[in-house]
Amino acid sequence: MSHPIVVSHAQGSYPVYVEEGSLSGLEDLVRQLLPGRRVALVSDETVNQLYQAGRLGSSAWNVETLLFPTGEKFKTRETWGRLSDTLLRSGFGRDTALVGLGGGVVGDVVGFVAATYMRGVPYVLAPTTLLSMVDASVGGKTGVNTPLGKNLIGAFHPPSAVVADPHVLAPLRDDAYREGLAEAVKHGLIADESYFQWIEKDRFSIIRRDPDAVVRLVRRSVEIKAQVVSADEREAGRRAILNAGHTVAHALEVVSDFRLSHGAAVALGLEVECEVAERLQIAGPGLRKRVQTLLEQLGFAVRLPFSLDPDAVLQRMSSDKKNRGGKIHCSLVEGVGKIPSREGWTVAVPKEELAIALRTIM
Ligand SMILES: NC(=O)c1ccc[n+]([C@@H]2O[C@H](COP(=O)([O-])OP(=O)(O)OC[C@H]3O[C@@H](n4cnc5c(N)ncnc54)[C@H](O)[C@@H]3O)[C@@H](O)[C@H]2O)c1
Ligand SMILES: [Zn+2]
Repeated sequence: MSHPIVVSHAQGSYPVYVEEGSLSGLEDLVRQLLPGRRVALVSDETVNQLYQAGRLGSSAWNVETLLFPTGEKFKTRETWGRLSDTLLRSGFGRDTALVGLGGGVVGDVVGFVAATYMRGVPYVLAPTTLLSMVDASVGGKTGVNTPLGKNLIGAFHPPSAVVADPHVLAPLRDDAYREGLAEAVKHGLIADESYFQWIEKDRFSIIRRDPDAVVRLVRRSVEIKAQVVSADEREAGRRAILNAGHTVAHALEVVSDFRLSHGAAVALGLEVECEVAERLQIAGPGLRKRVQTLLEQLGFAVRLPFSLDPDAVLQRMSSDKKNRGGKIHCSLVEGVGKIPSREGWTVAVPKEELAIALRTIM
């Protein structure tokens, strides 16, 4: 495999391979990178079926496989416990290496098992959704949900390598594919106007999942996320710009009782927060319109598909973990591709401004 993107972190770095057909090289890569280790592959039932049926590249790898049921609702401590116990019962020792094959749920769970098993074993990720390629596989965050909230229990534990093969995205449903596009648009918006422009121009190839377009999209998004997280692994400051659109998105997800998917909520959140940036004159006029147009062209709803109580959304934002001094904070951009230069990386936004901006999606 050639030319990985290198993501650096406090303890070292890891390569991210983005290449057509790279999944068939996964076994060799794991043996090469983590020699002499006893390997267990972890996946969810859906992905495992696709893999065994050969629809996600070669399934010739005869490796011990641990499965858990598909879905966000199984991203739990129970799943983490069950997987860890299975490894223990099967006699996996300190020389274990894990491989996570699947979407962001598999990645977060396998990463958390790896972080805690025998006080930490290495793992490799093979993301199989666009979202996990452009976002979840990079940055070293692992964890599980609890009834009190998502991702509340976890650890920083970067993988030893990531293998993203665009070929595996073929069986993904359009709405699942779109989940990743929302984050890609965000990456262009926060860091690279020419990337944003390319998404605008080549949107049809991206929507069709032309292999070259997907490789380019995943590579650039990974580079941008890698750059941001390398500079700020533990979210002290700069990493907050990755939360663009997310203050509003998280509130919309919760208040809609997760009827809105994360990607759909991020698309709406980007719109609202760009509107706020314009209203506060942090960004010039036209930003929200440009972002909204692109999102619409990519197939996102640019208005809420059902009604939500704006007060409940504001109320929810008031308890966002980025808030300081009782004020709602958002990661606002100054324009497309303009990483904010100001101190603190997030801006306190008056509730009234948010209330007005929310009307753009209602
Ligand atoms: N650690 C991080 O930094 C980070 C960042 C973003 C998101 N996340 C997490 O990622 C999760 C969401 O990720 P996701 O959207 O990949 O969800 P997911 O893992 O649940 O995958 C979505 C669905 O697609 C199926 N699937 C996976 N690959 C497929 C393929 N190639 N073809 C057909 N179906 C396939 C899965 O079985 C599942 O049903 C959330 O739990 C979120 O918290 C983590
Ligand atoms: Zn997100």
